[in-house]
Amino acid sequence: MATQFLILSLLISSYLITSTLAEETGFVGSLDRKALGLKKKNKVSHFRFYFHERFTGANATSVTVVAPLPKYNTTTNFGLVGVTDNALTVGPEPGSKVVGRIEGLYAATSQSEFNLLVVVNFALTQGKYNGSNIAVLGRNRLSLKVREMPVIGGSGVFKFATGYVKTSTLYLDADRSTIEYNIYVSHY
Ligand SMILES: *[C@@H]1O[C@H](CO)[C@@H](O)[C@H](O)[C@H]1NC(C)=O
Ligand SMILES: *[C@@H]1O[C@H](CO)[C@@H](O)[C@H](O)[C@H]1NC(C)=O
Ligand SMILES: *[C@@H]1O[C@H](CO)[C@@H](O)[C@H](O)[C@H]1NC(C)=O
Repeated sequence: MATQFLILSLLISSYLITSTLAEETGFVGSLDRKALGLKKKNKVSHFRFYFHERFTGANATSVTVVAPLPKYNTTTNFGLVGVTDNALTVGPEPGSKVVGRIEGLYAATSQSEFNLLVVVNFALTQGKYNGSNIAVLGRNRLSLKVREMPVIGGSGVFKFATGYVKTSTLYLDADRSTIEYNIYVSHY
């Protein structure tokens, strides 16, 4: 009896699951955005963050994991791969209020100039943004004063996010840097 009930429940639940999907394929169907808790209209927000990298010492925050190919190690750094994890602050001063972190990877992917492929998440920790992430993936052409890269998505508040960032280097020496990020993001 118990077994029959179990089989019946399984049959019903598998019927319910497939019936919410498109009948032709069995694996894809349209969905009312309300079912995902998404508002009808998107909004566009501008976030501005700063972070401070340390390249050296025991508490380095941006570190090289793979060295560049020797042929390029004084020019474009082609082949270099690094990881980064820095506190995001509301102002450019190192003691400024922390509102999240930037975590990710970068790789020097050009043989002709010092460009980085950047793959980073902005992980926010304040108020309604706490726990939400904005994902950025793009080509960071370091020779430009202001570099633009796409926002390719996000999680939490930033589900279905699209947009772009503008980033610039405010300070740079062999030991540390200060970077500004302006994020223009459309989300629900
Ligand atoms: C690294 O951080 C630890 C803990 O905050 C601190 O005690 C130490 O002095 C720092 N080291 C350097 C080289 O900055
Ligand atoms: C570049 O690589 C060569 C060969 O491995 C090495 O001798 C040299 O010190 C490197 N230069 C820099 C700046 O890392
Ligand atoms: C963010 O959420 C975490 C739990 O996910 C909580 O521990 C933390 O206090 C929250 N931070 C703020 C600033 O609300």
